[in-house]
Amino acid sequence: MKIGIIGAGAIGSVLSKKLSANGHQVIVANSKGPETVPAEALAFGATAGTTKDAITDKDVLIISIPFIQINNIAAIIKENIDKRTIIIDTGNYYPVRDGSIEEILEGKPESIWVSEKLGRDVVKAWNSVVAPVLKNNGYPAGMQNRLAVPFTAEDDNSTAVAKQLIEETGFDPFYVGDLQEPYRFQPGQPSYSTSLNLADIKKAIEQAHTSSNAALHREEFIVTMMKLGWPDDAKTMVEISRFLNNKQVN
Ligand SMILES: NC(=O)c1ccc[n+]([C@@H]2O[C@H](COP(=O)([O-])OP(=O)(O)OC[C@H]3O[C@@H](n4cnc5c(N)ncnc54)[C@H](OP(=O)(O)O)[C@@H]3O)[C@@H](O)[C@H]2O)c1
Repeated sequence: MKIGIIGAGAIGSVLSKKLSANGHQVIVANSKGPETVPAEALAFGATAGTTKDAITDKDVLIISIPFIQINNIAAIIKENIDKRTIIIDTGNYYPVRDGSIEEILEGKPESIWVSEKLGRDVVKAWNSVVAPVLKNNGYPAGMQNRLAVPFTAEDDNSTAVAKQLIEETGFDPFYVGDLQEPYRFQPGQPSYSTSLNLADIKKAIEQAHTSSNAALHREEFIVTMMKLGWPDDAKTMVEISRFLNNKQVN
C-alpha cells in the first residue's frame, strides 16, 4: 500500500519503520521539514517528505501528532486527500497538553471531533499502546500472549485495512465499534497502556468506565503520570497503568 504518515515522533517513527519493513511504500512528514525526520523512521526504506507529500495519492494516511494539531493540518488534508484514502488517527486528547476543546469536554467523542474537522470518517488505532511497547513488544502472529490493539472504524473496507496494518505491526487487532466508541480505550481505561492479550483486551473493553466517567479517569491517569514524570520504561508504564486504570475513581 501507499501510506503517508504525518508525525515522525515516538509513535509515527515506529509505525513508519514497521510498515515500510512490511513492504509498504511509506512517506513520513513532520512540521519542521523532511531533513529533520529521524533516521529511525527511515530505517527500512520509508522516505521523508512534506505534509502534502504524505497526504497526496495514498491508500492510507496515518495522523500521529499532538491532538490539537489537527486544527493546523485539517485544511491541507481536505485540499489534497483522495476519496479512497483511509485516515487512521493515533491521537489521544490530553487537556493539559492540548488545551480546552469545549466540544470534547462537553461530551463529543474525540473521533467524531476529528472526523468533523477533516470532513471524513477516521479509524482510531494504536492510541492505547505506549511508544516503548509499540516499538519493542510486537510479536509474530500466533505467538503465545501476543498483545492486542483495539481499534474503531466505520466501514468494512477501513476495518479490513486497519486489521491488516495492526497485524503487521505485531499485534492482534480487536475491533471495538464505530467512531462513538474510542472512549473505551482512551487514557484512563482498563485497556489503555496495560499490555493485554486478545482475550483480556475483550474483557477490559467490556469493563470500560462509562463514557460519562471516562474523562475523570483520564484526568487521574494523566495527573498521576505527570507527577511521576512519565516513566519511559515500558514495564513501569504498564504496571502503573494496570493499577490506575482498573481503579474506580467514583
Ligand atoms: N507517545 C506515546 O506513548 C503515545 C501512545 C499512544 C498514542 N499517542 C498519541 O499519538 C500522537 C503522537 O504522539 P507521539 O508521542 O508520537 O508525539 P511526539 O513524539 O511528540 O511527535 C509528534 C510528531 O508530530 C509532528 N507534528 C506536530 N505538529 C505537526 C503539524 N502541524 N504538522 C506536521 N507534523 C506535526 C512533530 O513534528 P515536529 O517535531 O517537526 O514538530 C512530531 O514529529 C499524540 O496524539 C499522542 O497523544 C502517543
